[in-house]
Amino acid sequence: MNSKLGYADAIVGLQWGDEGKAKIVDLLSQNYDYTIRVQGGANAGHTVVHKEKKFIFHLIPSSVLNEKSVSIIGNGVVFDPKVFLEELDSLRNFDKNIDKRIVISDKATLVLPIHKKIDAIRDEILKIGTTKRGIGPAYESKVARVAIKLFDLVADDWLKKLKLLIQYYGYDPDGKEFNENKNFILKYKPYILPFIDDSERMVIKALSEGKKILCEGAQGAALDIDFGTYPYVTSSNTIVSSIFSGGGIPLRSLRNVFGLFKIYCTRVGNGPFPTEISDELANKIRDDGREYGSTTGRPRRIGWLDLPMLKYYARLTGTSHLILTKADIFSNFPEFKVCVAYQNNSTLDVIEEYPPASIHLHTPVYKVFKGFTSFDSVEFKHFISFIEEYLNLPVYMVSTGPEKDEYLILKPDIYQN
Ligand code: IMP
Ligand code: MG
Repeated sequence: MNSKLGYADAIVGLQWGDEGKAKIVDLLSQNYDYTIRVQGGANAGHTVVHKEKKFIFHLIPSSVLNEKSVSIIGNGVVFDPKVFLEELDSLRNFDKNIDKRIVISDKATLVLPIHKKIDAIRDEILKIGTTKRGIGPAYESKVARVAIKLFDLVADDWLKKLKLLIQYYGYDPDGKEFNENKNFILKYKPYILPFIDDSERMVIKALSEGKKILCEGAQGAALDIDFGTYPYVTSSNTIVSSIFSGGGIPLRSLRNVFGLFKIYCTRVGNGPFPTEISDELANKIRDDGREYGSTTGRPRRIGWLDLPMLKYYARLTGTSHLILTKADIFSNFPEFKVCVAYQNNSTLDVIEEYPPASIHLHTPVYKVFKGFTSFDSVEFKHFISFIEEYLNLPVYMVSTGPEKDEYLILKPDIYQN
């Protein structure tokens, strides 16, 4: 037996997504043989700046530009072939060997035009503010066992299944809807077949050979279907657990979890956001931080950093290493606020806990921090120590700007590869 087993590390957002995961994945992926997406779909928008060119990835892992690592789209992903091929086209212009480094799980679920249509119709009523990428309905089809999996395309065994799916959503199984979706599959199928493989076997084999895998989380822990502010959540588990069920990574192979958080919070779409602000300062943060959705272009809602929330999701995700991002956006602010507790609106009790299920019954309690002029300053160091003490976790890294080389490693000893 090989005594040198490989392992997996995970990168997870601890807020409502858009914590700047892509840059960190791109940066850290140098240390890994594989990078894998395990949940979500084209609702994600991961921005990477590479050789002064900006790339936005929706489905392909953000590590794909790294020539040393293989990028896997795992079985837990809901896969839109149109978005994938558009993304691939833009990458091929940049690197003609890119195809060889991408694998899609044969157990990933196909997202079809019908899913997007249902997503739009439902959101008119539900008002969740989804990305309209068909994510919720695609996961629903999967759980209802009427979805088309990529292995159905490989086996060319999907026509009957498509009829069933169309019927499931209340449309005529021989009508317009069927034809539209059938043509969609016929159009894209030939181009995606070469990428399809049983990726969980690759993963298991790689681990047995001592290889290293980086798992790229999409969305954020606070959008988790179970632990987020339901129903204002996405339709997958975003709290790292999907690496097991959506990637085929054995539980005991997980080593480090990098939990990312911005120096403020943002949220796109509807739902509770206790520390939200909507004044001039919010506009300044939105503009300075370029806080516009990379998938939908929507302006992101802005609010103060929420430490009870961060602590809750750091614990749930098993975060071992914190990474602070967008720290540069607050440099030269005279002061800024951080939520450090919640007050119960009726009992007036103050708790240092985040209560997602009854968050509407609570009001944030703030602490004001002095601004910092440099990342060397006493003020910045004080802020970092406060967070470390509050969460009882180390801040490993700070991202100080959008470029790849704009970051600081605060504790080099706690992560070696
Ligand atoms: P869905 O995932 O498209 O169903 O959208 C559900 C909620 O999650 C909405 O509030 C979306 O704005 C939000 N959401 C989905 N994906 C992302 C993401 O990658 N970043 C930030 N918010 C997201
Ligand atoms: Mg994003």
